[in-house]
Amino acid sequence: MKHNRKDHAQDGYQIAPEHILEVKDLNVHINVDDYDLHAVRGVNFSLKNGETLGLVGESGCGKSVTSKEVLGINPSNCKGSGQILYRTKSGKVLNLLELNQDGAVYRAIRGSEISMIFQEPMTAFSPLYTIGNQLAEIILLHDPKATKASARERVLEMLKKVGIANPEKRIDQYPHEFSGGMLQRALIAMMLCCNPDILIADEPTTALDVTIQAQILELMRSLQKEFGMSILFITHDLGTVANMCDNVAVMYLGEIVEYGTVHQIFHNPQHPYTKGLLRSLPKMNESREEKLYIINGIVPLPVDLPPCCGFYDRCEYCIEGVCPNRTIPEFTVEPGHMVRCMLMEQGEKQHG
Ligand SMILES: Nc1ncnc2c1ncn2[C@@H]1O[C@H](COP(=O)(O)OP(=O)(O)OP(=O)(O)O)[C@@H](O)[C@H]1O
Ligand SMILES: [Mg+2]
Repeated sequence: MKHNRKDHAQDGYQIAPEHILEVKDLNVHINVDDYDLHAVRGVNFSLKNGETLGLVGESGCGKSVTSKEVLGINPSNCKGSGQILYRTKSGKVLNLLELNQDGAVYRAIRGSEISMIFQEPMTAFSPLYTIGNQLAEIILLHDPKATKASARERVLEMLKKVGIANPEKRIDQYPHEFSGGMLQRALIAMMLCCNPDILIADEPTTALDVTIQAQILELMRSLQKEFGMSILFITHDLGTVANMCDNVAVMYLGEIVEYGTVHQIFHNPQHPYTKGLLRSLPKMNESREEKLYIINGIVPLPVDLPPCCGFYDRCEYCIEGVCPNRTIPEFTVEPGHMVRCMLMEQGEKQHG
């Protein structure tokens, strides 16, 4: 239970030297009234230093619950199990799931080591204080050596870095005086003030128009190069993934159903769900008369799930008597490319 977690975690876990984060067999159960939502089911992924991993899937498939569990900000009716192994700035490997979410250790990690930017930047700022004061507050909180004057200097520098024009004037304005795109830039500046090793970006551009979207993504890419952070990039838009990510994890009903490099996922997708997501992307050379592909049905609520493929009742390739009746193992397509689909076994039989 969350309230039994300690404010210190056992050190001594091992992760691969090139990894900063390893999520192992993560399960999250959410207690709602009388029922239990199994929102994240046996999720495994890792994040290399400087890598961008895309987490994609339709609404309700568990992307946000997964990422909030990493940051330790899921509400108290959520219970996570498994391991979230994280290498801290001081070089220790901690299992974040052992830490008290409200304790000092997690609070220090949150923000200065792992940061998150959300879809709705407005909710991240208080309407009562200027943007400058809110950013300076973060710096003063995380850097004991900072003074009010040095924090203001650093805020100005960060506002410039994220491309906010007239930062000397903007620094003393309130959030309502910023446009949506500018607020998202300010939020990115806020995150940079802490210089995190991992940035979790949950639909960071969904609320913005396409031109601003492209600018913000470009900004994130260049800042990543400069600061060397790893990014967990969450989106339902595969188009953005192609531009932003090195690797992609496709989630469906709380599980990762396919994982691979951007090239593997876009050029050799194996799971019917991944193929469906790709087919539903609008194409430049498609005539307007051609209808966009739609995956039939919706993501069900993850309640009382039997051991079977989560996607079988929406899948046009469902194998009767197999997909609805058994746990689906992971198949390796090629090194670095994994899929959870029984069609792979069929393919292996045909080819073997
Ligand atoms: N606090 C909560 N209480 C109850 N159910 C929740 C809570 N948070 C998430 N859920 C449920 O958990 C499942 C996964 O939700 P999650 O927010 O992770 O989806 P998502 O993939 O981020 O979707 P979206 O693309 O809409 O943001 C959904 O069925 C959702 O209804
Ligand atoms: Mg979400």
